[in-house]
Amino acid sequence: MGELEVEKHVRYILSVEKKKDDFEYLVIEHLRMSGAYWGLTTLDLLGKLGAVDQDEIVSWVMKCQNESGGFAGNIGHDPHILYTLSAVQIFALLNKLDVLNIEKVSNYVAGLQHEDGSFSGDMWGEVDSRFSYIAICCLSLLHRLEKINVEKAVDYVVSCKNLDGGFGSTPGGESHAGQIFCCVGALAITGFLHHIDKDLLGWWLCERQVKSGGLNGRPEKLPDVCYSWWVLSSLVMIDRVHWIDKEKLSRFILDCQDRENGGISDRPDDAVDVFHTYFGVAGLSLLDHPGLKAIDPAYALPVDIVNKIFFRN
Ligand code: FPP
Ligand code: ZN
Repeated sequence: MGELEVEKHVRYILSVEKKKDDFEYLVIEHLRMSGAYWGLTTLDLLGKLGAVDQDEIVSWVMKCQNESGGFAGNIGHDPHILYTLSAVQIFALLNKLDVLNIEKVSNYVAGLQHEDGSFSGDMWGEVDSRFSYIAICCLSLLHRLEKINVEKAVDYVVSCKNLDGGFGSTPGGESHAGQIFCCVGALAITGFLHHIDKDLLGWWLCERQVKSGGLNGRPEKLPDVCYSWWVLSSLVMIDRVHWIDKEKLSRFILDCQDRENGGISDRPDDAVDVFHTYFGVAGLSLLDHPGLKAIDPAYALPVDIVNKIFFRN
C-alpha cells in the first residue's frame, strides 16, 4: 500500500487559499466557510494546524457573521445554518469558542426549528434532515441544546427512517449515505441511537463497498472518497465498522491521492479538491491510519477537541 503524502497535502491545502484566480477557488467562493473548516480540520488531523495564521482566520470568520447571529459562506453573503456550523467548528478547532456571542449564534440556530421538530437551513429554505443534524451538532458544541425541543427534533429525524434501515432527507425520501450520517449523528449526539436497527442499517451501509474497495452513497452508484466519511462514520457510530474490508478501503483512498501536487480526488485520477481531501484524510483517520489524529464520527472534529469541549479525558 502506498504512503499518505502528508507534506504534499499540507502544501496543497495552504496553496488553495493563495490561488484566488483559480477555478477551484471560484467554485468554493460562496461556501468558503465550509472550505475553511475542511482545510483546517485536515491540517489538524495531519498535525499541521500550526502552519496557518489563526488570528487572521478568526478575524475573517467574524466578518462573515450577520446581525441575525448566523454566519455566511463568505463576507457579505446571506447567513445559513451550514456555514454557522462550519464557523462554530472552526472556533472549536482553534480553541476560540469564547470569542463567540454564544447566545446570539444559538438563538439563530434555534429559531430555524419548526413546530414539528424539523429544521430549515435559513429563513427561506426547505426542511431537510441535514439541517436537523447541523442544528443539533452546533448547539451541542455550544452547550445550548436546551434552546430547542430535542424530543421533537429526534421524532422528526426518526420519521425520516426507511424500511431498509436507512434515512432520507424527509419522511419517505430515499435512503442516502449522506443523510444517514446526518440522522445517525443527530441521534448519537442526543443519546437516542436505540431508535436504530443497527444490524439492518449496518447491512445497508456495508453493501456500499464495491469491488475497488471504495464506498458509494446509494446502490448502483460509483464509489467516491467522500462516502469514506458518510458511510464509515455511520458504521462507527452504530458499532458495525468491522463489517467492511478496511484494508481495501484504505487502499482506495490512498489511490485517489495526487502524488505529485497533493490533494485527494473523488476517484483515482480525477482532479483533487479540498472537500475530498478532507473526507479522504478523515476516512483514513477513522480507519486508524498511522500518524493521523483520531476524529470523532458524530461531531466531525478531532477527538481531542471534542473531549476538551465536553470536559472528557
Ligand atoms: C452527500 O451530498 C452528502 C450529504 C447529503 C450530507 C451532507 C451533510 C452536511 C452538509 C452536514 C455537515 C457535515 C459535516 C461533515 C460536519 P451530495 O450532494 O454530494 O450527494 P450525491 O453524491 O448524491 O451527489
Ligand atoms: Zn464526493
